[in-house]
Amino acid sequence: MTKQALIQKTADSIYASRQIVAFSGAGISKESGISTYREPGGLWDRFPEGGSGGMMAVMRNHPEQAPQILLEFLETLQKATPNPGHKALVDLEQMGYLQTIITQNVDNLHISAGSSTVYELHGNFLRLKCLQCERQQKNHPKEYFSMLTQIIRSISSLTMESLFEHLPRCDCGGKQRIDFVGFGESVQQLNQAISASENCNLMLILGTSGVVHPAAMLPVMAKKNGAFLIEINPEKSSLSGYADLFIKGQSGKILPLVVDALKKNKAL
Ligand code: APR
Repeated sequence: MTKQALIQKTADSIYASRQIVAFSGAGISKESGISTYREPGGLWDRFPEGGSGGMMAVMRNHPEQAPQILLEFLETLQKATPNPGHKALVDLEQMGYLQTIITQNVDNLHISAGSSTVYELHGNFLRLKCLQCERQQKNHPKEYFSMLTQIIRSISSLTMESLFEHLPRCDCGGKQRIDFVGFGESVQQLNQAISASENCNLMLILGTSGVVHPAAMLPVMAKKNGAFLIEINPEKSSLSGYADLFIKGQSGKILPLVVDALKKNKAL
């Protein structure tokens, strides 16, 4: 099928569905300037220990580079804005097609784009969580990033754990941490994500290599419950074998074309 035909088929499938879930990974944020992990030049390509231990392992294994690695990551997060892929998902929600986004990303871009139901399985790097009362609080990005930068620069031997020690206390007096999910920690909102995956009749799989569990099992669960799976990725992934449609391309380019085709459908 030509790309145009695939886009039209995707629009027709969305038009005919009513319970649609988008499942996203780092690829959807690449056009916002945020590095992916496993592609050539990606974070875990540059620091292989991250593939099994995440940023905490990278910082432990490269203590001398830890400040620079983290400051670089924070800078891309701070500069990043939602790209046309994130915005197309907001359009699909506002047109009444898309109910839920399940993301593995910690960059807050789906929320800042305006999506209203976003399950952030791996947490959110722009949010603090209290270890005592579990309050999650998001701060104004400018102040937040400048606070983190100052702390990072003030610590002689920086680890993620030592960074947490320097964070301001919660109003309840409890210690706080950045609210991302480290490797080996429990993912967040998994029950809601499982329920959404089991009850959807169409899942868009956007920009993920599909190798990290339990997130990667969600499209398989959707498929087992009869959902139609459509994947958008410049490359095949571990989930491509489950996809009913595979569109080779960047989500920031393809998704707006799907929205345009839907608008034409609606006009018919
Ligand atoms: N549009 C769509 N997909 C893209 C784009 C793009 N513009 N650019 C790259 N991709 C695809 C790549 O081909 C790859 O399949 O995005 C995928 C990124 O894969 P990973 O880097 O493995 O990222 P992800 O699947 O989100 O990783 C899952 O691993 O380390 C953990 O917590 C981390 O949440 C992350 C999880």
